[in-house]
Amino acid sequence: MVTFSQSDIDALGARAEAMVKSLGTISAEPDRLVRLFLTPEHRRAADRVADWMREVGLEISEDALGTVRGRYRAAGEDAGQNTAKRLLIGSHIDTVIDAGMYDGPFGVIAGILAVEHFAKGGRRLPFGIDVLAFGDEEGSRFPATLASSSACAGIFKPENLQLADRNGVTLADAITAYGKSPADISAAAYAREEAAAYVEVHIEQGPVLETRNQPLGVVTAIIGQTYLNIEFLGEAGHAGTVPMLLRRDALAGAAEAMLLGETLARDTKGEVVATVGRIAVAPGATNVIPANVVVIFDIRSGSEAGRARLVDALKSGVRAIADKRHLGLTITSTREVATTPCHPAVQDGFASAIGALGAEPLRLGSGAGHDGQAMARLCPIGMLFVRCRGGISHNPMEYTSPRDLGVAVAALIGFIERFDPGTLG
Ligand code: GLV
Ligand code: MN
Ligand code: MN
Repeated sequence: MVTFSQSDIDALGARAEAMVKSLGTISAEPDRLVRLFLTPEHRRAADRVADWMREVGLEISEDALGTVRGRYRAAGEDAGQNTAKRLLIGSHIDTVIDAGMYDGPFGVIAGILAVEHFAKGGRRLPFGIDVLAFGDEEGSRFPATLASSSACAGIFKPENLQLADRNGVTLADAITAYGKSPADISAAAYAREEAAAYVEVHIEQGPVLETRNQPLGVVTAIIGQTYLNIEFLGEAGHAGTVPMLLRRDALAGAAEAMLLGETLARDTKGEVVATVGRIAVAPGATNVIPANVVVIFDIRSGSEAGRARLVDALKSGVRAIADKRHLGLTITSTREVATTPCHPAVQDGFASAIGALGAEPLRLGSGAGHDGQAMARLCPIGMLFVRCRGGISHNPMEYTSPRDLGVAVAALIGFIERFDPGTLG
């Protein structure tokens, strides 16, 4: 097992930070970070990642959804062969709107730097490694998400090809515009016997590690999630002439639904969280009564039963609001992901690697969604969390110190050294 000096860790951290900042400059907008799935910015970020992978000696390929794969062959596995079991290490290079730089890119960079450690020494392992840079974890462009990792896991839903972005461009059209073909999506799937495990390094995006004064943590499970699209249909009318009691105001109904969601979630005392981060109001004019409003609820819980209870209560409450206000209503779920446990042997592997670096291997759940939720349908998964300042994420203030980035890369290297596909059952 390799041991790292503080200066080794600082050198790894400095490189990781420089790479994070380099990707952070690739944005659709000059004043904030916006890098959406299958856009020209996605293309540029994917090219930069592919260059880095090539430089450390990985073989590059790209699938129909633009996922960049860098392959490090197993001992005895010749180029062109596909005989080894592989450890898949990945994260995403798409961002939310007005994002921080660390959410996603650092996991890809950690994978590249960890493989470089072995490649530099010419050391091949008994298993292969693929480093994966996914492009659709945030779901910021199309209403469904995890398209890239779902394709790799062999669970991509072809009906999602018809989902459209805010400009009416369907996923199928976006894939074609990116120079790929929807017909090739099925070829992106790994065979079950090939994928030994999927692991991801990610900033925590919450305050637990900072509060406990620890740089790293082992993820026990990724929280389950439901997206509910609720559409209210009212009637447009003149804001000055229609009496209040005669209105069918879709936005007033949506506002009541949002407050209901907040109350229901607060009443669970921490078991369930519910958020509305996006609404669409039509026709959207100051002097016109809103006729059509869509609100999207993001509902999450580590308890499947708790989430189901809240979703049911919200749906029946929303029906009552629509009835009372004489509004039309449609409710559709565009995302339904069960709570995903991390494999105990993968958790233990990360815990040993953290312990070997002299840190305490804290275990914690993930309230954020991750590509592991899709990859778990293919193989055992696990995640390593890294402390971030103030627990802030999905915000340009997101920050992790270079030292913590370096410790995380060192822990990933330690994990790879200990990894044995045979222990995963
Ligand atoms: C992705 O970061 C999510 O948790 O929504
Ligand atoms: Mn992320
Ligand atoms: Mn995110």
